[in-house]
Amino acid sequence: MVAGLSMPQKATPPKYFYDERGSALFEEICATPEYYVTRTETALLRSRAPQIAATIESGAVLVEFGSGASEKTRLILDAAPQVGAYVPIDISPDALQQAAARIARDYPSLRVLPVTVDFTRAVALPSPVGHAPRVGFFPGSTIGNFTPPEAVQLLRTVRSLLGPGGSLIIGVDMVKDSATLVTAYDDAAGVTARFNKNLLARINRELSGDFDLDAFDHRAIWNAPLQRIEMHLVSRIDQLVHVAGRGFAFKAGERLHTESSHKFTVESFGLLAGSAGWAIDQHWLSPEPHVAVFRLVAPD
Ligand code: AVJ
Repeated sequence: MVAGLSMPQKATPPKYFYDERGSALFEEICATPEYYVTRTETALLRSRAPQIAATIESGAVLVEFGSGASEKTRLILDAAPQVGAYVPIDISPDALQQAAARIARDYPSLRVLPVTVDFTRAVALPSPVGHAPRVGFFPGSTIGNFTPPEAVQLLRTVRSLLGPGGSLIIGVDMVKDSATLVTAYDDAAGVTARFNKNLLARINRELSGDFDLDAFDHRAIWNAPLQRIEMHLVSRIDQLVHVAGRGFAFKAGERLHTESSHKFTVESFGLLAGSAGWAIDQHWLSPEPHVAVFRLVAPD
Protein backbone atom coordinates (compact mmCIF):
# COMPACT_ATOMS: atom_id res chain seq x y z
CA MET A 1 0.00 0.00 0.00
CA VAL A 2 2.69 2.48 1.10
CA ALA A 3 4.92 1.18 -1.71
CA GLY A 4 2.16 1.91 -4.23
CA LEU A 5 1.67 5.43 -2.92
CA SER A 6 5.42 6.01 -3.28
CA MET A 7 5.55 5.25 -7.01
CA PRO A 8 5.67 8.07 -9.59
CA GLN A 9 2.23 6.90 -10.81
CA LYS A 10 0.54 6.29 -7.46
CA ALA A 11 -1.38 3.00 -7.46
CA THR A 12 -2.97 0.69 -4.90
CA PRO A 13 -3.80 -3.04 -5.22
CA PRO A 14 -7.54 -3.61 -5.81
CA LYS A 15 -7.83 -6.46 -3.30
CA TYR A 16 -7.83 -3.86 -0.50
CA PHE A 17 -11.25 -2.59 -1.63
CA TYR A 18 -12.92 -5.50 0.09
CA ASP A 19 -13.19 -4.71 3.77
CA GLU A 20 -16.67 -5.16 5.24
CA ARG A 21 -17.96 -1.84 3.90
CA GLY A 22 -16.24 -2.35 0.54
CA SER A 23 -17.78 -5.80 0.13
CA ALA A 24 -21.22 -4.35 0.95
CA LEU A 25 -20.65 -1.54 -1.57
CA PHE A 26 -19.65 -4.08 -4.22
CA GLU A 27 -22.98 -5.85 -3.61
CA GLU A 28 -24.66 -2.46 -4.09
CA ILE A 29 -22.74 -1.92 -7.34
CA CYS A 30 -24.09 -5.25 -8.60
CA ALA A 31 -27.63 -3.92 -8.06
CA THR A 32 -27.06 -0.75 -10.12
CA PRO A 33 -28.59 -0.77 -13.61
CA GLU A 34 -25.21 0.14 -15.17
CA TYR A 35 -23.06 -2.66 -13.70
CA TYR A 36 -24.03 -5.56 -15.93
CA VAL A 37 -21.09 -7.89 -15.16
CA THR A 38 -22.40 -9.89 -12.21
CA ARG A 39 -26.02 -10.21 -13.21
CA THR A 40 -25.13 -11.10 -16.80
CA GLU A 41 -22.64 -13.73 -15.66
CA THR A 42 -25.13 -15.18 -13.17
CA ALA A 43 -27.78 -15.44 -15.89
CA LEU A 44 -25.23 -17.05 -18.22
CA LEU A 45 -24.18 -19.60 -15.58
CA ARG A 46 -27.82 -20.37 -14.86
CA SER A 47 -28.75 -20.89 -18.50
CA ARG A 48 -25.58 -22.87 -19.31
CA ALA A 49 -25.38 -24.85 -16.07
CA PRO A 50 -26.50 -28.11 -17.75
CA GLN A 51 -23.74 -27.85 -20.40
CA ILE A 52 -21.14 -26.85 -17.82
CA ALA A 53 -22.23 -29.66 -15.49
CA ALA A 54 -21.95 -32.16 -18.34
CA THR A 55 -18.18 -31.49 -18.49
CA ILE A 56 -17.68 -32.42 -14.81
CA GLU A 57 -16.65 -36.01 -14.03
CA SER A 58 -18.31 -38.07 -11.34
CA GLY A 59 -16.66 -37.62 -7.94
CA ALA A 60 -14.83 -34.47 -9.04
CA VAL A 61 -13.58 -31.90 -6.55
CA LEU A 62 -14.83 -28.38 -7.28
CA VAL A 63 -12.23 -25.82 -6.15
CA GLU A 64 -13.45 -22.22 -6.06
CA PHE A 65 -11.00 -19.30 -6.02
CA GLY A 66 -12.28 -16.28 -4.08
CA SER A 67 -15.53 -18.01 -3.15
CA GLY A 68 -17.11 -15.16 -1.12
CA ALA A 69 -20.72 -16.06 -0.39
CA SER A 70 -20.59 -19.12 -2.74
CA GLU A 71 -23.76 -17.91 -4.47
CA LYS A 72 -22.76 -18.70 -8.06
CA THR A 73 -21.45 -22.09 -6.95
CA ARG A 74 -25.00 -23.20 -6.24
CA LEU A 75 -25.86 -22.82 -9.92
CA ILE A 76 -23.16 -25.40 -10.71
CA LEU A 77 -23.85 -27.67 -7.73
CA ASP A 78 -27.58 -27.78 -8.48
CA ALA A 79 -26.86 -28.97 -12.01
CA ALA A 80 -23.94 -31.27 -11.08
CA PRO A 81 -24.92 -33.63 -8.27
CA GLN A 82 -21.94 -35.83 -9.29
CA VAL A 83 -19.53 -33.35 -7.65
CA GLY A 84 -18.03 -35.16 -4.66
CA ALA A 85 -16.32 -32.37 -2.77
CA TYR A 86 -16.25 -28.58 -2.70
CA VAL A 87 -13.17 -26.61 -1.68
CA PRO A 88 -14.00 -22.90 -1.31
CA ILE A 89 -10.87 -20.76 -1.04
CA ASP A 90 -11.16 -17.22 0.33
CA ILE A 91 -9.05 -14.70 2.18
CA SER A 92 -11.85 -13.68 4.56
CA PRO A 93 -12.25 -16.37 7.27
CA ASP A 94 -15.65 -15.30 8.66
CA ALA A 95 -17.41 -15.03 5.32
CA LEU A 96 -15.80 -18.32 4.24
CA GLN A 97 -16.89 -20.31 7.31
CA GLN A 98 -20.44 -18.97 7.05
CA ALA A 99 -20.71 -19.66 3.34
CA ALA A 100 -19.20 -23.16 3.73
CA ALA A 101 -21.63 -23.98 6.55
CA ARG A 102 -24.60 -22.94 4.40
CA ILE A 103 -23.39 -25.03 1.45
CA ALA A 104 -22.80 -28.06 3.72
CA ARG A 105 -26.34 -27.65 5.09
CA ASP A 106 -27.95 -27.36 1.66
CA TYR A 107 -25.89 -30.12 -0.03
CA PRO A 108 -25.72 -32.82 2.65
CA SER A 109 -23.92 -35.42 0.50
CA LEU A 110 -21.15 -32.98 -0.53
CA ARG A 111 -17.84 -32.87 1.36
CA VAL A 112 -17.12 -29.18 2.04
CA LEU A 113 -13.49 -28.39 2.84
CA PRO A 114 -12.91 -24.61 3.14
CA VAL A 115 -9.40 -23.15 2.90
CA THR A 116 -8.69 -19.67 4.26
CA VAL A 117 -5.86 -18.24 2.19
CA ASP A 118 -5.03 -15.52 -0.33
CA PHE A 119 -5.44 -17.64 -3.45
CA THR A 120 -2.86 -15.59 -5.37
CA ARG A 121 -0.27 -17.44 -3.27
CA ALA A 122 0.41 -21.08 -4.01
CA VAL A 123 -1.90 -23.15 -1.84
CA ALA A 124 -2.18 -26.86 -1.13
CA LEU A 125 -5.54 -28.61 -1.20
CA PRO A 126 -6.76 -30.29 1.99
CA SER A 127 -5.44 -33.87 2.08
CA PRO A 128 -8.85 -35.64 2.04
CA VAL A 129 -9.24 -34.40 -1.54
CA GLY A 130 -6.95 -37.17 -2.79
CA HIS A 131 -6.80 -38.09 -6.46
CA ALA A 132 -10.28 -37.20 -7.64
CA PRO A 133 -10.39 -35.05 -10.80
CA ARG A 134 -10.20 -31.36 -9.97
CA VAL A 135 -12.35 -28.68 -11.51
CA GLY A 136 -11.48 -25.07 -10.75
CA PHE A 137 -14.21 -22.44 -10.59
CA PHE A 138 -13.24 -18.78 -10.86
CA PRO A 139 -16.32 -16.69 -11.68
CA GLY A 140 -16.88 -12.95 -11.37
CA SER A 141 -14.35 -11.71 -13.93
CA THR A 142 -11.91 -11.34 -11.05
CA ILE A 143 -9.11 -12.42 -13.40
CA GLY A 144 -9.58 -9.00 -15.07
CA ASN A 145 -8.23 -7.22 -11.99
CA PHE A 146 -4.75 -8.67 -12.56
CA THR A 147 -2.21 -7.29 -15.01
CA PRO A 148 -1.59 -9.75 -17.86
CA PRO A 149 1.70 -11.00 -16.31
CA GLU A 150 -0.01 -11.42 -12.92
CA ALA A 151 -2.96 -13.16 -14.56
CA VAL A 152 -0.61 -15.60 -16.32
CA GLN A 153 1.17 -16.26 -13.03
CA LEU A 154 -2.14 -16.86 -11.25
CA LEU A 155 -3.45 -19.16 -14.00
CA ARG A 156 -0.19 -21.14 -13.77
CA THR A 157 -0.54 -21.45 -9.98
CA VAL A 158 -4.13 -22.59 -10.44
CA ARG A 159 -3.05 -25.11 -13.10
CA SER A 160 -0.44 -26.70 -10.85
CA LEU A 161 -2.90 -26.76 -7.94
CA LEU A 162 -5.52 -28.52 -10.06
CA GLY A 163 -2.93 -30.95 -11.38
CA PRO A 164 -2.76 -32.96 -14.61
CA GLY A 165 -6.19 -33.42 -16.16
CA GLY A 166 -7.52 -30.43 -14.25
CA SER A 167 -9.99 -28.05 -15.82
CA LEU A 168 -11.02 -24.49 -15.01
CA ILE A 169 -14.43 -22.84 -15.40
CA ILE A 170 -13.68 -19.12 -15.49
CA GLY A 171 -15.84 -16.02 -15.98
CA VAL A 172 -14.45 -13.20 -18.10
CA ASP A 173 -15.85 -9.83 -19.10
CA MET A 174 -15.56 -9.05 -22.79
CA VAL A 175 -14.44 -5.95 -24.69
CA LYS A 176 -17.40 -3.82 -25.75
CA ASP A 177 -18.21 -0.20 -26.59
CA SER A 178 -16.53 2.24 -24.25
CA ALA A 179 -19.76 3.99 -23.18
CA THR A 180 -21.20 0.77 -21.77
CA LEU A 181 -17.92 0.04 -20.01
CA VAL A 182 -17.38 3.51 -18.55
CA THR A 183 -20.92 3.87 -17.21
CA ALA A 184 -20.66 0.40 -15.62
CA TYR A 185 -17.77 1.78 -13.55
CA ASP A 186 -19.26 5.26 -13.02
CA ASP A 187 -22.92 4.68 -12.18
CA ALA A 188 -25.34 7.59 -11.91
CA ALA A 189 -26.15 6.94 -8.24
CA GLY A 190 -22.45 7.22 -7.34
CA VAL A 191 -22.16 3.79 -5.73
CA THR A 192 -18.93 2.97 -7.56
CA ALA A 193 -17.53 6.36 -6.52
CA ARG A 194 -18.25 5.49 -2.88
CA PHE A 195 -16.69 2.04 -3.39
CA ASN A 196 -13.55 3.67 -4.80
CA LYS A 197 -13.30 6.27 -2.03
CA ASN A 198 -13.92 3.65 0.65
CA LEU A 199 -10.33 2.58 -0.01
CA LEU A 200 -9.21 5.95 1.36
CA ALA A 201 -11.43 5.51 4.44
CA ARG A 202 -9.87 2.09 4.99
CA ILE A 203 -6.34 3.51 4.70
CA ASN A 204 -7.29 6.25 7.17
CA ARG A 205 -8.58 3.70 9.65
CA GLU A 206 -6.07 0.88 9.28
CA LEU A 207 -2.90 2.77 8.35
CA SER A 208 -3.41 5.98 10.35
CA GLY A 209 -4.06 7.98 7.19
CA ASP A 210 -5.57 11.45 6.87
CA PHE A 211 -7.10 11.35 3.38
CA ASP A 212 -9.91 13.91 2.92
CA LEU A 213 -12.42 11.91 0.86
CA ASP A 214 -14.00 15.11 -0.44
CA ALA A 215 -10.67 16.25 -1.88
CA PHE A 216 -10.72 13.44 -4.51
CA ASP A 217 -12.98 12.71 -7.49
CA HIS A 218 -13.86 9.25 -8.77
CA ARG A 219 -12.96 8.71 -12.42
CA ALA A 220 -13.43 5.70 -14.71
CA ILE A 221 -11.63 5.61 -18.07
CA TRP A 222 -11.41 3.06 -20.89
CA ASN A 223 -7.76 2.46 -21.73
CA ALA A 224 -8.21 1.16 -25.29
CA PRO A 225 -4.58 0.17 -26.01
CA LEU A 226 -4.44 -1.93 -22.84
CA GLN A 227 -8.06 -3.12 -23.15
CA ARG A 228 -8.97 -2.21 -19.61
CA ILE A 229 -11.22 0.01 -17.53
CA GLU A 230 -9.21 1.99 -15.03
CA MET A 231 -10.54 3.53 -11.85
CA HIS A 232 -8.71 6.50 -10.46
CA LEU A 233 -9.10 8.94 -7.60
CA VAL A 234 -8.19 12.38 -8.88
CA SER A 235 -6.88 14.96 -6.43
CA ARG A 236 -8.97 18.14 -6.60
CA ILE A 237 -6.19 20.29 -5.13
CA ASP A 238 -2.50 20.34 -4.31
CA GLN A 239 -2.37 18.50 -1.00
CA LEU A 240 -0.16 16.56 1.36
CA VAL A 241 -1.59 13.31 2.75
CA HIS A 242 -0.09 11.22 5.54
CA VAL A 243 -0.19 7.42 5.68
CA ALA A 244 1.65 5.27 8.21
CA GLY A 245 3.78 8.18 9.33
CA ARG A 246 4.84 9.19 5.81
CA GLY A 247 3.85 12.18 3.70
CA PHE A 248 2.55 11.85 0.13
CA ALA A 249 2.17 14.96 -2.03
CA PHE A 250 -0.65 15.10 -4.60
CA LYS A 251 -0.74 17.80 -7.29
CA ALA A 252 -4.16 19.10 -8.34
CA GLY A 253 -5.35 16.69 -11.05
CA GLU A 254 -2.90 13.98 -10.03
CA ARG A 255 -4.39 10.48 -10.04
CA LEU A 256 -4.21 7.57 -7.67
CA HIS A 257 -4.81 4.48 -9.86
CA THR A 258 -6.95 2.13 -7.75
CA GLU A 259 -8.10 -0.59 -10.16
CA SER A 260 -7.74 -1.98 -13.65
CA SER A 261 -10.43 -4.28 -14.95
CA HIS A 262 -9.17 -5.98 -18.10
CA LYS A 263 -11.64 -6.95 -20.80
CA PHE A 264 -11.04 -9.70 -23.35
CA THR A 265 -12.01 -11.12 -26.68
CA VAL A 266 -12.15 -14.90 -27.15
CA GLU A 267 -8.81 -14.55 -28.99
CA SER A 268 -7.06 -12.41 -26.37
CA PHE A 269 -8.26 -14.61 -23.53
CA GLY A 270 -7.10 -17.70 -25.42
CA LEU A 271 -3.63 -16.16 -25.74
CA LEU A 272 -3.49 -15.27 -22.04
CA ALA A 273 -4.64 -18.74 -21.00
CA GLY A 274 -2.22 -20.30 -23.48
CA SER A 275 0.70 -18.46 -21.88
CA ALA A 276 -0.22 -20.20 -18.62
CA GLY A 277 -0.39 -23.66 -20.20
CA TRP A 278 -4.18 -23.77 -20.56
CA ALA A 279 -6.22 -24.28 -23.72
CA ILE A 280 -9.81 -23.23 -24.33
CA ASP A 281 -11.99 -26.33 -24.56
CA GLN A 282 -15.34 -24.53 -24.78
CA HIS A 283 -16.78 -21.12 -24.13
CA TRP A 284 -20.26 -19.74 -23.62
CA LEU A 285 -21.15 -16.14 -24.46
CA SER A 286 -24.02 -14.16 -22.91
CA PRO A 287 -26.34 -11.95 -24.94
CA GLU A 288 -25.16 -8.31 -25.02
CA PRO A 289 -23.54 -6.83 -23.02
CA HIS A 290 -21.19 -9.77 -23.54
CA VAL A 291 -19.58 -11.68 -20.73
CA ALA A 292 -18.17 -15.17 -21.21
CA VAL A 293 -17.57 -18.35 -19.30
CA PHE A 294 -14.62 -20.41 -20.54
CA ARG A 295 -13.79 -24.03 -19.84
CA LEU A 296 -10.01 -24.34 -19.89
CA VAL A 297 -8.14 -27.61 -19.98
CA ALA A 298 -4.49 -28.38 -19.34
CA PRO A 299 -3.30 -30.51 -22.26
CA ASP A 300 -0.24 -32.07 -20.56
C1 AVJ B 1 -15.26 -7.81 -8.72
C2 AVJ B 1 -13.25 -7.46 -9.96
C3 AVJ B 1 -15.20 -8.22 -11.07
O1 AVJ B 1 -13.60 -5.32 -11.96
O2 AVJ B 1 -15.70 -5.37 -12.50
C4 AVJ B 1 -16.77 -3.29 -9.86
C5 AVJ B 1 -14.86 -4.93 -9.27
N1 AVJ B 1 -14.84 -2.45 -9.53
N2 AVJ B 1 -16.86 -1.98 -10.03
C6 AVJ B 1 -14.79 -5.50 -11.69
C7 AVJ B 1 -15.49 -3.61 -9.55
C8 AVJ B 1 -15.69 -1.47 -9.81
C9 AVJ B 1 -15.19 -5.97 -10.29
N3 AVJ B 1 -14.71 -7.34 -10.01
